[in-house]
Amino acid sequence: MKPPSILIIDDEPLMRLSMMDALKAVDYDVHAAASGHQGLEMIKKGAFEIVVTDLRLPGVDGLALLQACKQHSLRTEVIVITAHGSVETAVGAMKLGAYDYITKPFQMEELLLIIDRVAKVQALRQENLQLREKLEDKFSFQGILGKSDRMRGVLDKIKLVSATDSTVLIVGESGTGKELVANAIHHHSPRHDHALIKVSCAALPETLLEAELFGHEKGAFTGALRQRRGRFELAHKGTLFLDEIGEISPMVQVKLLRVLQERQFERVGGNDTIEADVRLVCATQKDLKKEVAQGRFREDLYYRLNVVPVMLPPLRERREDVLMIAEHVLQSRSGRSNKTLKGFSQGTHELLLRYSFPGNVRELENMVERAVALGRQNEEIQPWDLCGFLTCPYLGGRPQETCGFCSEGLTGKKEAKTLTDSLAVAREQFERQYILSVLGRVQGSRTVASKILGLSRKALWEKCKRYGISPGKNDHRDD
Ligand SMILES: Nc1ncnc2c1ncn2[C@@H]1O[C@H](COP(=O)(O)OP(=O)(O)OP(=O)(O)O)[C@@H](O)[C@H]1O
Ligand SMILES: [Mg+2]
Repeated sequence: MKPPSILIIDDEPLMRLSMMDALKAVDYDVHAAASGHQGLEMIKKGAFEIVVTDLRLPGVDGLALLQACKQHSLRTEVIVITAHGSVETAVGAMKLGAYDYITKPFQMEELLLIIDRVAKVQALRQENLQLREKLEDKFSFQGILGKSDRMRGVLDKIKLVSATDSTVLIVGESGTGKELVANAIHHHSPRHDHALIKVSCAALPETLLEAELFGHEKGAFTGALRQRRGRFELAHKGTLFLDEIGEISPMVQVKLLRVLQERQFERVGGNDTIEADVRLVCATQKDLKKEVAQGRFREDLYYRLNVVPVMLPPLRERREDVLMIAEHVLQSRSGRSNKTLKGFSQGTHELLLRYSFPGNVRELENMVERAVALGRQNEEIQPWDLCGFLTCPYLGGRPQETCGFCSEGLTGKKEAKTLTDSLAVAREQFERQYILSVLGRVQGSRTVASKILGLSRKALWEKCKRYGISPGKNDHRDD
């Protein structure tokens, strides 16, 4: 592996040279700057893995350089050198994101040790990133994540069918990712340079849907003030996604069948026959076979649409995917909101794995988004962050009828009636209740409570924060 490149910034020539020699002797790729200004220029131009800078420099000082490094490249780690007796400035630098500090005078051995440690951490980080990318490649396709056997089967099928022109019928409950799959198929198909046109068949009444799909001539019906091209024409050479196809009326079913058979149609109120080269992808939540059996959907159309069926299993039938998707949403949403959360608490993990997710991936996404908004900086996500109710039973409140997540978690009702809470969830609940009762007994004094509980004041304070217990009215007394 390539040795890390290191930039040394120090205005004292002797110091600079000794550091350079020591680092070169162990084969690091070493560069140096004799002033803050020169250092700044070099940081802006080059991507250094490690920057070692004196804090006190004329002109641009070490703190300014540290900030420039953090703005320029998140992976650069900065080690600051401080004069003897100015530890406070060093602590300030650490708060601004410096990796470590070293106090003058120091032995070169000390510097080498710190740099060796940083280099190891960076190598590990890089390795992790690469492993994650590899895993994500294996378990995702065009943003569709899934490592369960069933989803991997689906992903393989989507990859294969994308390359063809076959009509695809995507079937799945609400929120299972039907639209996401339709997007993936189009974007991975030879038609990706042309349009992907989407129509929600449930959103429009029969006559409007007909005009929407096939277009209309001027004066075809009241309000048709000018000629309008339909979605089939707009999707020429591209893909047409007909969502909620199970909702179309018998009249539209006949028209659609004709386009599929002859690749031709006429605009509403028109005589000209129009040809369209369109790849059709349809989606439905309904069991179309049942609809056919009950006479609501044409059998001939069903067979034309069901050339390649893609069945998206509900999330509750592929629990291996839950945490993977939850972690992914957590990463992406916290990145956007600039919030750092320490992942899900063990109890929350277990509740997530047990919940039935009637709204499937969409529901999981919304829950994690809520947790990013409500969760506390640098802390683990708790059940109440996911459900968003202040009266969450895990906070000692009454379960909300509308909150399936907590009520299912408490009763295990959908999965197994006899299932009791896992140890982790039970422990968190018990701990919270117990802390509350002790605080109650000592009129809210955390110092007294921490003694009774055998915890340090800091540990108790952290637990209170984690469990959403606000300071009691007597708490200020002993602060
Ligand atoms: N396997 C998955 N990996 C990552 N995200 C997913 C996955 N499945 C669904 N999603 C996300 O969940 C949300 C809902 O997906 P989508 O709109 O495709 O569902 P749908 O099946 O079309 O639902 P509906 O029937 O309600 O229209 C989207 O934000 C989508 O990105
Ligand atoms: Mg949809």
